[in-house]
Amino acid sequence: MTTRRLVRRLGGLAFGGDYNPEQWDKSVWEEDDELMRRAGVNLATVGVFSWALLEPKEGHFDFGWLDAHLDRLHANGIAVDLATPTASPPPWFTLAHPDALPVRSDGTKLVHGSRDTYCLAAPAYRGAARRVALALAERYGDHPAVAMWHVHNEYMTLCWCDHVAASFRVWLHTRHGSLDALNEAWGTAFWSQHYTSWDQVLPPRATQWHHNPAQALDFSRFWSDEALAAYVDQRDAIRAHSDRPVTTNLMVPGYQNLDLWAFGREVDVVTIDHYPIAPGVDAAADTAFGGDRARSFGGGRPWLLMEQGTNTVYAGDRVLAKEPGEILRHSLGHVAHGSDGALFFQWRQSRAGAEMWHSAMVPHAGADSRVFREVTALGAALGRLGELAGSTVRAEVAVLHDSDSWWAMNGDGLPSAELDYLGPLRRAHRALWDAGVTTDFARPDDDLSRYRLVLAPALFLLSDASAENLRRYVAGGGTLLVQHFSGVVDARLHARLGGYPAAPLRAALGIRVDEYRPLGSGEQVVLSDGSHGTVWSESVRLDGAEAVATYTGGMLAGGAALTRHRFGDGHGWYLSTRLDDANYAVLVDRLLAGTGVGPDLPDLPFGVEAVTRHAEDGRRWLIVLNHTADVMPLPAPGHDLLTDTTAHELPPGGCVVLSLP
Ligand code: GLA
Repeated sequence: MTTRRLVRRLGGLAFGGDYNPEQWDKSVWEEDDELMRRAGVNLATVGVFSWALLEPKEGHFDFGWLDAHLDRLHANGIAVDLATPTASPPPWFTLAHPDALPVRSDGTKLVHGSRDTYCLAAPAYRGAARRVALALAERYGDHPAVAMWHVHNEYMTLCWCDHVAASFRVWLHTRHGSLDALNEAWGTAFWSQHYTSWDQVLPPRATQWHHNPAQALDFSRFWSDEALAAYVDQRDAIRAHSDRPVTTNLMVPGYQNLDLWAFGREVDVVTIDHYPIAPGVDAAADTAFGGDRARSFGGGRPWLLMEQGTNTVYAGDRVLAKEPGEILRHSLGHVAHGSDGALFFQWRQSRAGAEMWHSAMVPHAGADSRVFREVTALGAALGRLGELAGSTVRAEVAVLHDSDSWWAMNGDGLPSAELDYLGPLRRAHRALWDAGVTTDFARPDDDLSRYRLVLAPALFLLSDASAENLRRYVAGGGTLLVQHFSGVVDARLHARLGGYPAAPLRAALGIRVDEYRPLGSGEQVVLSDGSHGTVWSESVRLDGAEAVATYTGGMLAGGAALTRHRFGDGHGWYLSTRLDDANYAVLVDRLLAGTGVGPDLPDLPFGVEAVTRHAEDGRRWLIVLNHTADVMPLPAPGHDLLTDTTAHELPPGGCVVLSLP
């Protein structure tokens, strides 16, 4: 898992985007050649949605058009990230294989007319996807233009059809071993759900009231494995004929059908798509959140931003434009967090079709536009940063992040609708980002010993092994903050008995929770240190820990709300409510101070971000991004690679990349 081969081939950071020349004619291709040279593009992702063109009839391939584009790009000095087009089966496919169409949980069968109209578990689809990947690999495995393979596009769609039911049963058999074990794991003694034969077992289709949460969790686990197997099918077909790195572009925002850690292990380069979900400083924090996750999914190695928008900020029900300068700053934000380049969806804004209003490197207005001028400036900037390629980012703090807890919290029947997984995860990362601290994500069963501080904002599900791992981490000298409603169910989604959280973690935290007190909508609890909690509160019994703050009212008055426990060589902290943002930030700052973790550049004002990239040979670069509208003096002048001058300050919205002595 590394970008090494790719950046060596490109001679520096990657720059470019999805290129769909099949939407245009020859005169536009000629202009594309010229504009790509002008912008400094060095990598184009080709063929993502071109199945209909590539295989116009089942088993009959037309490679002529693709030969011509690859040769043209190669002659123009542009490397190709060659995609398999399997995210968009053509109409002939769905008519020939109607059983491969996706079915929603309520039984509605979807038809073609959009994209992603396939079921990953349907044998006809899987066979066709493998066939297309193989045909491409056989023909282009050694093509000089091809620098990387891009399997599929954003694995994420779900299906509940009969093929899925059949695969799910096989998966369940492997996981549980027997129907008795499945009945036990799913707690089917409740509501008379006991299964007496495998064919009674279904995916969690639409039903009358709550789904069985363990069934839903296993379905999420199964589906992620199914998607990964579909990726591996294609990857292996390609690997048989090509030695170039293979990837698939992961989606990292707020929904998740996949265990991205597992994908991180199977791709040669982690690549992500990232579109900020809010403007301004929030977009920068969101970029860091996506980038830090991408880096962590790949084990800390450099990764690649496969898609972003030149002029796209998804803000709820509308798409906002980016402010001048944000194309560069957002791109450098990704580079700061470990991306070895910045690519876009897409090169040229489509004239027609479902995404004709999605921004592009060459907008409808053409090259004489602000967007294209900023794209060209970005190309030049990335061209000056080639020496950063392959360098990495180091963190001393980790936020625990795992798919099981996320999926489990999506299940029905939790005690408060305000309990969620992603909100606390983002808040923990944001508090660290606001403090200027570079953050990794880690799984609860990872070796955490290299981190001085670990935050566990949402660890609803915790296996016995992970609970023991966290106990060991604290005993060995780590500082751990566990937040409310964590460690409360085991890997089968069975409640921990005898008090929450899981016993080894209770030992590390020196507490025992004997009752949850969910708060009403808008209700607040006031703590003895003046801070406020919402959503949740708990009856926390001290068992070795000290109360740092207590509840001041209601039936919990006087009871511990925030605790600290000296355990072995480390400290276990427990927070039993959801603190307001400001007081949560104060707590995180206190933990950082206590563990001696500081920002890459001290005393940065709010909205200025600084991250260091480290090369193996000891060279270091400090990327400083000013997300504010004010001039920001640098604490010390430094040599800026972007301008090749000594920088003393950052203009409003400005960026510098300083090579450190
Ligand atoms: C995703 C997809 C692209 C395109 C963009 C823009 O990330 O991979 O094909 O749809 O979003 O919305």
